[in-house]
Amino acid sequence: MPFIDMRQFIDVLQSQGDLKVVEGADWDLEIGTITELACQKEAHAMVFDKIKGYPAGYRIAVNLLSTHRRALLASGLPQGLRGLEIVKAWKERLKKYKPVPPRKVSEGPLFENVFKDEQVNLWKLPSPKWNEKDGGRYLGTGCMVITKDPDEGWVNMAPYRVMVHDEKTTGLYIAAAHHGRVMMEKYHARGQDAPVAVAFGQEVATYIASTYPLPWGQSEYEFAGFLRGEPVEVVEGPVTGIPIPATAEIAMEGFVPPQSKETRIEGPFGEWPGYYAHGAMPEPVVHVKALYHRDDPIIFGAPPRRPPYPFDLAGRGAIRAAQVWEEMERAGVTGVKGVYKLESGGIHFITAVSVKQLHQGHANWVASAAASVKTGAPLTRIVIVVDEDIDPSNIYDVMWAVATRCDPEEAVQIVKGVWSNELDPMISPEKKAKHDYTTSRIIINACRPYRWMNDFPPVVDASPEIKKKTLEKWASLFEGVPKQA
Ligand SMILES: Cc1cc2nc3c(=O)[nH]c(=O)nc-3n(C[C@H](O)[C@H](O)[C@H](O)COP(=O)(O)O)c2cc1C
Repeated sequence: MPFIDMRQFIDVLQSQGDLKVVEGADWDLEIGTITELACQKEAHAMVFDKIKGYPAGYRIAVNLLSTHRRALLASGLPQGLRGLEIVKAWKERLKKYKPVPPRKVSEGPLFENVFKDEQVNLWKLPSPKWNEKDGGRYLGTGCMVITKDPDEGWVNMAPYRVMVHDEKTTGLYIAAAHHGRVMMEKYHARGQDAPVAVAFGQEVATYIASTYPLPWGQSEYEFAGFLRGEPVEVVEGPVTGIPIPATAEIAMEGFVPPQSKETRIEGPFGEWPGYYAHGAMPEPVVHVKALYHRDDPIIFGAPPRRPPYPFDLAGRGAIRAAQVWEEMERAGVTGVKGVYKLESGGIHFITAVSVKQLHQGHANWVASAAASVKTGAPLTRIVIVVDEDIDPSNIYDVMWAVATRCDPEEAVQIVKGVWSNELDPMISPEKKAKHDYTTSRIIINACRPYRWMNDFPPVVDASPEIKKKTLEKWASLFEGVPKQA
């Protein structure tokens, strides 16, 4: 059975001893710093209540999905999976994908508290200032921004950050080419303000689905229904007509004017690459026309973290890798044995692919395909292709292959002018001034050279058979070792 809403998931974590309620913390940096430390230490998930200056019940939940245990629970996958196993589990799942459309309902707990027009006051909610250099308080981190295409009518849903400007206005940062932005710009091209709804706290599988970059035209609501095994129940937003999850904790509806008409300074904000690279820049605003929340509402906070720490979903890179792998197979690329997004690069910068080399040029083909398919292309700076005996999810294995199977003069290529964005710390001030958000990519072929791979020196490692036999015979030698400090 899927979870009904976020609070049911929180209750389950609490009953399993994996959640702490924290009282009396300050929205101004204290909650952000506790969240960061708890994430880095793989501590409990946390719900902040009685936040300084706010009445009891106005809560923030953090790190709900930031350990593998909690992420697998929310994803409906077996406990204990790690690395490439998680990628394979997602890949199997994706193969079976069938859209499950949302189900319209006429009401939901979201409307327990309704504020329209003059009644809207976003400061009622305890939006945190997460990091020291943030330019404001961010209500939307683990949120879902919901937009409807004006031509095709389909609904997109993705987390894009939402900063509170004042009682009735927020900022909204959406990177180029993201579907929410493409949709918004379509309204603007017609001289219209773009309607938008944002949910801040939602059932966890629906949230996971919203973070997933589906192809244009496919709604994350349908993907959420597939992940849940049941449709998401949605209510039509009274102001915009946009469907909003009926069990969301908090939601707002409003309109985004064209940037030629209005922008406000948004950021800086602590971003997923581990920097404040976007800085303070003019970005679109949302004029909020309605705010809804449940009794005792819970904001889902997922402030980005410097890699390798997962800020919202442990193993998010695995989902992305599964999607890249799937897309490569659909494109006819053969011999791929594993794909992984190495954690040091967040979910974007570093892709490792393992391949069983079948012909000359095979490894380079696989590497360039991994960086060309839709989900592999954005912000991929380093692609490393390794042989099938290397686990691409093990950074030590991968770097061993780079060190020992790669002569840079022959095995390294640089591709110029590839897709990046404002959050990339390597975009120089000069490029920023020209709105040039491209960088280069390195492809490292760390496979044994195909021409002489049969003459390549053998690897020093006892075979699995000898290891197994030896372990069986000498098992007692490996038991009772005192825990090392
Ligand atoms: C917690 C979180 C916060 C995010 N914040 C932003 C953001 O502020 N702006 C943005 O453009 N993308 C952001 N993203 C990335 C997009 O949500 C993600 O790439 C999504 O798949 C884009 O979907 P789309 O192609 O439907 O737009 C964020 C992702 C996560 C998981």
